[in-house]
Amino acid sequence: MQPKPSKALEPHDKDAIGRTFGRAAASYDSHAQLQRLVGERLLTLAGPLPLGRVLDLGCGSGHFTEKLAGQGHQLIALDLASPMLEHTRLRCPEVLCLQGDADALPLGSDCVDMVFSSLALQWSQDLTQALRQLRRTVRPGGRILISTLADGSLNELAQAWNQVDRQPRVNRFMSEEALRIAVASAGLNPAQLSFDTVTLHYDSALAVMRALKGVGATHLHQGDGHRSLNRHTLTALEQAYQALAAHPGQLPLSYRVCYGVFTLD
Ligand SMILES: C[S@@+](CC[C@H](N)C(=O)[O-])C[C@H]1O[C@@H](n2cnc3c(N)ncnc32)[C@H](O)[C@@H]1O
Repeated sequence: MQPKPSKALEPHDKDAIGRTFGRAAASYDSHAQLQRLVGERLLTLAGPLPLGRVLDLGCGSGHFTEKLAGQGHQLIALDLASPMLEHTRLRCPEVLCLQGDADALPLGSDCVDMVFSSLALQWSQDLTQALRQLRRTVRPGGRILISTLADGSLNELAQAWNQVDRQPRVNRFMSEEALRIAVASAGLNPAQLSFDTVTLHYDSALAVMRALKGVGATHLHQGDGHRSLNRHTLTALEQAYQALAAHPGQLPLSYRVCYGVFTLD
């Protein structure tokens, strides 16, 4: 039997996701170590890019918008969170900034030469639909560059939480197989996907939680694990997480990153 792409049980609360990212807009850049690494890797994988009109989907505070604009591309920056867009506007006043949702793209057909979307599509409700919309938006012969997260991401944090209680505290991510199926269902070539694991290290569980909060990646699709955090729970998490460290004070936090570089027919 063919495995099906995993779907959340309930619709994602886009307002809440946008608010959580919006609250992190000011702190985002100083915590976005993973996002910088992954976005750079995506651009390296893509190789030289002909100049054109580029949609930066889920632009965040605009680091890659600015970088691509600086290379001579004409940028459209789109994000769910308006405070993120305000940062992007300050960085690149010449760029068209649009508040919008990757699951309901407010753009016409064949209107850009390329989409760049780094570490945003893991928040999409339905990746196949989102990718179909990207295909519609990009002109024939254009490119789609994406990075997103796969199952295996935040595993150490989930494992540590599991020692503390059984509440859902960490979002789940699509399996690699489900990602390949979503890509193929959207009419893109799944052979153009690659996967890589990035592991960052932190000195404490609190530092891990602060880093996630700093980039705004703390919205939970199911449950509300953050409201019930108290000192006792955090101490238990700290102990459970420290036990996972190979070296004292070096707590691993891994991300299974999926990269897709597609050229449209
Ligand atoms: C982890 S940040 C990545 C930002 C930027 N691409 C980077 O690499 O630094 C994810 C961004 O995606 C945005 N986002 C999340 N869900 C989205 C959606 N459905 N549509 C558009 N943007 C979304 C968030 O508001 C946030 O700014």
